Amino acid sequence: MSKVHGRDGISVFDNGRSRLADPRSAPRLGKCVLDYSWRNSPDVQRGTRTHDESPADDAMTDLNSRPSTASKVVIAGQGYVGLPIAMRAVEVGYDVVGYEPDLTRAKRLVSGSSYVEDVSDDVLAAALDTRRYEPSDAIESCEGFDVAVITVPTPLTEGAPDLSYIERSARELAPYVRPGSTVILESTTYPGTTEELLVPILEEGSGLTAGRDFWVGYSPERIDPGNRTWTFQNTPKVVSGIDERSAVAVDAFYRSLVDATVVVSGPKVAEMSKLLENTFRHVNIALVNELAMFAGELGVDVWEAIDAASTKPFGFMTFTPGPGVGGHCLPVDPSYLSWRVKQTIGATFRFVELANDINDHMPDYVAQRAAMALNRDAKAVNGSRILVLGLAYKRNSGDVRVSPVPVFCDRMAALGADVYAVDPHVAAEQFPSSTAPAALTQAELRAADLVVVATDHDGFDWDLVVGSAQRVLDTRHRVPPADHVEYL
Ligand SMILES: NC(=O)c1ccc[n+]([C@@H]2O[C@H](COP(=O)([O-])OP(=O)(O)OC[C@H]3O[C@@H](n4cnc5c(N)ncnc54)[C@H](O)[C@@H]3O)[C@@H](O)[C@H]2O)c1
Repeated sequence: MSKVHGRDGISVFDNGRSRLADPRSAPRLGKCVLDYSWRNSPDVQRGTRTHDESPADDAMTDLNSRPSTASKVVIAGQGYVGLPIAMRAVEVGYDVVGYEPDLTRAKRLVSGSSYVEDVSDDVLAAALDTRRYEPSDAIESCEGFDVAVITVPTPLTEGAPDLSYIERSARELAPYVRPGSTVILESTTYPGTTEELLVPILEEGSGLTAGRDFWVGYSPERIDPGNRTWTFQNTPKVVSGIDERSAVAVDAFYRSLVDATVVVSGPKVAEMSKLLENTFRHVNIALVNELAMFAGELGVDVWEAIDAASTKPFGFMTFTPGPGVGGHCLPVDPSYLSWRVKQTIGATFRFVELANDINDHMPDYVAQRAAMALNRDAKAVNGSRILVLGLAYKRNSGDVRVSPVPVFCDRMAALGADVYAVDPHVAAEQFPSSTAPAALTQAELRAADLVVVATDHDGFDWDLVVGSAQRVLDTRHRVPPADHVEYL
């Protein structure tokens, strides 16, 4: 059964418009002038498609008829993104080097101990047993690769995009680029990075020409740690190349790993699509966070209002308030976009600035609400015992990177509270220094002057919480209603 998910197709993301993206003129990239005229070719149309399409009734015959012939794959960076890709690549039959310069991490992988929640020790052990997965901290292991995927960090350093990890990775891989190799960037970054930063470094280090001797593309990662419904394999993958041959090679590689790919006209669109996805989420969370702050003053239950609005079957998407945004994506990626806009055209991306402002303020707002909750019992923050449930930035995750919850804990401690926290997903050494680890027991709940629900892990016993706590401030609307429970 063949099917193209396009403009009138059944794509759940309804993104068939990417098939019609206008090609743009050839940019000059250092010594390399790329020919983008292929994008006008009737043989290369873009859109979402699945593996089982028949070339006969598919305008993308050209791409579909070229499965990946790669055998050795390098995944540079074995973190939240890179390790799951490496596991999948081993599963479908590639020889995979998981290049990881962090020696501690590399050693753990060699010993079969996973530090990424979505990859169990069993899955890692199975990959090692095939003898086709080689975790390594030695760059020489990358020699002879057919495809290299770069999944290194892209943090903000002093408020600006820090592409040093990509630069370093490109420099390290460049000497191993051969004629016919494919290099794909997956790290989240601003539009232009692949063509303006990655390509020149690879060309300089290899002495070869991208688009003529080897292929380069960008494919944003959409992995959602902990999500059992939408996995790496069944989430459509946006793919791109700097030219036709690159697009073909990149697409062929990902078609061997995932159920559906979405080929777009070039890396800039693919890079922008990732930032758009995360900025959309960031801005909408800021909207409901600000609404939550005003709704309380207006005497309106914002959660009930959101539930009611969510019954609209079209034109509305549900976002819920919380103690702020966290992880390495939402607090970071929109700023990559606003930085690029500012740097390139001098304009302020006001939506991003406003969303940053609101979301960054949430830990302070929750601290204010906690003080008000204690006040109801004629208690001061100073000297009160606060029990925080959940430190991770999202439900059922142990990821505390840029989590707003430690910020809240620090605020309360600075005001003189004794702060304790329970998070079975987070190791004690990752707790903020202001906060002591505790267990979710009746005694701990009773001892606390205030229990603050910051992360609504499924493993928490909510009946125990509501039944034992003196007073609860629930920022996630998870605890059953009671007189002593108040919501954000
Ligand atoms: N984690 C997610 O949910 C997610 C989702 C989508 C996109 N992303 C993006 O993917 C990229 C990677 O994120 P992550 O969460 O996997 O980060 P991570 O920190 O978990 O993993 C990155 C790994 O790269 C390694 N590394 C550093 N320098 C290297 C080099 N020169 N060569 C090879 N490896 C190197 C680090 O030691 C680390 O283990 C980032 O750009 C991030 O924004 C992450």
